[in-house]
Amino acid sequence: MISGGGSGLRALLRHQQEADTAHVTKLVISDSESAGGLDHAREAGVDFVSVPLPQELKGDERRRAHEEKIMRIIESKDIELIVLSGYMRILTPLFVSQWKGRLVNIHPSLLPEFPGAHAQRDALEARVRVSGCTVHFVDEGVDSGPIIEQREVPVFEYDTVETLRERIKTAEHDLYPKVLDDISSGRVLL
Ligand code: GRF
Repeated sequence: MISGGGSGLRALLRHQQEADTAHVTKLVISDSESAGGLDHAREAGVDFVSVPLPQELKGDERRRAHEEKIMRIIESKDIELIVLSGYMRILTPLFVSQWKGRLVNIHPSLLPEFPGAHAQRDALEARVRVSGCTVHFVDEGVDSGPIIEQREVPVFEYDTVETLRERIKTAEHDLYPKVLDDISSGRVLL
């Protein structure tokens, strides 16, 4: 599931094309019709669908209807694991409880440090010298589920949010496909 440019999705699709993986991407779901990442799915010949928020509804009702639609789509496919890769919405406890243990996310910090939407900015403000990325199971909290694996990257004096974001992404693109290899071959227990 993606929301934006989908560089992580592109890295995963490449890995699945080039290596002998035990996993395959069955479907890419975006909450935005204009997510650049949908092009990566199109180019790789992978099914994709965008599910925008229903504008005619408001608040909780809107969230619920949106997730119900996504759940119906997922259930109509033979899907074993949901991989959040830059999906920018927080899933409701109902969604999470139905997929617990089969729902993973990547976050651009060394959790539990710097959860939330501004991980790189927060790391720079805290003047840390090492940051990185974390792959974790999703629970009902925000970036709080059990950690599967992390990768460190250095933070330099001259870094901006942008330079740090790109350095972390490079690490993410290597780490996430490898963690999915481990999950699908049973080296990480769900
Ligand atoms: C990644 O840094 C990921 O950790 C965060 O969102 C970013 C997604 O980037 N959750 P992209 O859309 O895969 O390029």
